[in-house]
Amino acid sequence: MKHWRVEQVSWDRFDPAKVDPEIVPLVKAAAMVERNGGDYAIYLNRVFKDDPDFARAADHWAEEEIQHGDALGKWSSLADPGWDYAAAFERYRNGYSIDINADASIRGSRTGELIARCIVETGTSSYYTALAEATEEPVLREVCKLIAADEYRHFKLFYDHMKRYLAREDLSFAKRLRVAFGRVGESEDDELAFAFHCANEDPSLTYSHERCITGYMGRAMGFYRYRHLERGMGMIFKAVGLEPRGRLSQLAARGAWRLLCWRRDRYREAIRRMAPPVPLAQAA
Ligand SMILES: [Fe+2]
Ligand SMILES: [Fe+2]
Repeated sequence: MKHWRVEQVSWDRFDPAKVDPEIVPLVKAAAMVERNGGDYAIYLNRVFKDDPDFARAADHWAEEEIQHGDALGKWSSLADPGWDYAAAFERYRNGYSIDINADASIRGSRTGELIARCIVETGTSSYYTALAEATEEPVLREVCKLIAADEYRHFKLFYDHMKRYLAREDLSFAKRLRVAFGRVGESEDDELAFAFHCANEDPSLTYSHERCITGYMGRAMGFYRYRHLERGMGMIFKAVGLEPRGRLSQLAARGAWRLLCWRRDRYREAIRRMAPPVPLAQAA
């Protein structure tokens, strides 16, 4: 059972005057990645083929991720009535796919796979919380809060299964840390950058990773506040087996915040330097 349904959102409260044009391209891009959740369920089903409890949970999880895409896609269509969610997603599907034909985790172990999933859910939980708190638009705030709550539950789901596998596989702390940091680093790969391209740029424009990750991150990073990183760092610490609210976690959060501010400013500078600025197709 899903915890909420798209139809239950108060869509009639949508207020176009409160839409921040900087948020629209991010929501459109996020809709692509979320909608693509089904492939991850196929992959996870293969990796955990002899674990029916987890496979069932992964199918349920993917249904919720797909619903996140549909809710974000619906909101984007209200914010920009000329935008075609289905067509943008088809472009994304045609140009980006994960390898679902694995029979073992690309992370080297099941524990590692589940830690990587915890990192992804930490990222999405923090991101939608940041967007919910930043936007004045009431429907987007409602949708982002609903999604952020799901993402936190997903973290707990993968964390609980991870603990079960950790007892069995006994993955070393160094390996857990390597998987976690590796997955954090992947956030600037093509998955989001190409989603930004398909959701926002004219199909005649050739995809450029550099341009698209800059367009995405230069906007997205501006919505985070220190408290989001602090909470996110606690979740990452928990996932790798460290004390989530200790001094080390605080130090790491402060370091991550400084890094984020520095990178955010560099991305913003790069957006300004794009001459002429790349016009976003139909952005409200
Ligand atoms: Fe999601
Ligand atoms: Fe999730």
